[in-house]
Amino acid sequence: MTIAGELTRRSFLKRASAFAVAIPILGATGCNQARSLSRSDSVEEPKNVSWKTAIVGEGERGEPLVISGTIFAPDGRTPLEGITLYVYQTDSTGVYTTSGGDNRNTRIHGVMRTNADGRYEFRTIRPGSYPGSRQPQHIHAYVSGPGYPEYWIDEYHFADDPFITDDMRQRSPGKGSLSSILTLSRDREGVWRGVRDLVVERCSRNCTGR
Ligand SMILES: [Fe+2]
Repeated sequence: MTIAGELTRRSFLKRASAFAVAIPILGATGCNQARSLSRSDSVEEPKNVSWKTAIVGEGERGEPLVISGTIFAPDGRTPLEGITLYVYQTDSTGVYTTSGGDNRNTRIHGVMRTNADGRYEFRTIRPGSYPGSRQPQHIHAYVSGPGYPEYWIDEYHFADDPFITDDMRQRSPGKGSLSSILTLSRDREGVWRGVRDLVVERCSRNCTGR
């Protein structure tokens, strides 16, 4: 390569790197948007994730449960495609079966990404309360998506759970289909079914930093 050619290449690379740096700066009209453009700071998004999944096998012990819902944009009305919902829970005996701690990578976990109608659905079993506790049955969940850094939401709880206290019902922020305390009903096959809709937010609390 000639010196002139090398200089041209160098100046090209320099311009290219300047452009690469400029993208997040130009795009950064707000902190959250800047974060969404930074790959190293974003959630590692698995590919080929469906809006609908089963997070337990057919032989899993426990009462079958299907939870579904719609995830809306911050306006509360527009169904949002491409939002990732990660859920994990105990088995029917209240055990996570991991090495311990509140590790989300438990045996029973799964991930969904909303479809064009903003829909998600997962099939599981009703989790058990922690052994020997009065901790209600619950399913942990995280929400993330393009422009929405990951955060955790109130656990899914169930209205017929005797360990749900009046205080918990009153403190539950969402109402109706937005409530984190789901009213379950049993279908003809004996499968518990519940609905929980979500309104996605640009993380201001419960942020995981991913
Ligand atoms: Fe838990």
